[in-house]
Amino acid sequence: MINIALPKGRLGEKVYKLFAAAGYEFPGMLDNNRRLVFENEKLNMRCFWVKPFDVPVYVERGTADIGAAGKDILLERSPDVYELADLKAGFCRMAVAAKNDFIDEPEKILRVATEFPNIAQNYYFSLGREIDIITLRGSLELAPVLGLSDVIVDIVETGTTLRENNLSVINFIADLSARLIANKSAYKFKGEEINKIISEISK
Ligand code: PRP
Repeated sequence: MINIALPKGRLGEKVYKLFAAAGYEFPGMLDNNRRLVFENEKLNMRCFWVKPFDVPVYVERGTADIGAAGKDILLERSPDVYELADLKAGFCRMAVAAKNDFIDEPEKILRVATEFPNIAQNYYFSLGREIDIITLRGSLELAPVLGLSDVIVDIVETGTTLRENNLSVINFIADLSARLIANKSAYKFKGEEINKIISEISK
């Protein structure tokens, strides 16, 4: 049996539609219910919704053979898994943003609010810049607006949230999209099946 972990939410729904269009259907997955585990006995496959940040945990530990995770989460968690394919869904960017009138003072410690402390640390470490990380859980745009931080390291998709809060991108960090990841030993033993799934959902 192949176990698949998909991220609960908008990105996961897009990825599930790629699976369904390729014939990997799990009835009820998109219905308005609270179920988390869905089985397709004919295909001998099982699919489950997990919190987006947790997909790499299920895959790394082998509870899921494969999973779909945003590149942001893979950069943040650096799981020991194979990243096998770009699913070409959920395109966005990781960027640094600040108030429109922000003026950086390079000699000062920069206060950085983010949900991605490792990505932010690595980015500023590469620039040799000393920072004070403030880890938050969403609505990051509030932090510079209210003076909690100087900048944010966050996901930008359309740019609307930044614009509506008088913020703008000041640095680009990485391009993001959904990636197909696999457990290393599952890939060793079920590699053929996994490659077949990838080629069919990538058509
Ligand atoms: C993400 C991100 C930004 C927003 C960017 O938040 O953190 O806030 O989307 O999208 P935009 O550029 O199209 O406006 P999300 O909606 O996932 O919620 P969160 O703030 O709770 O993380």
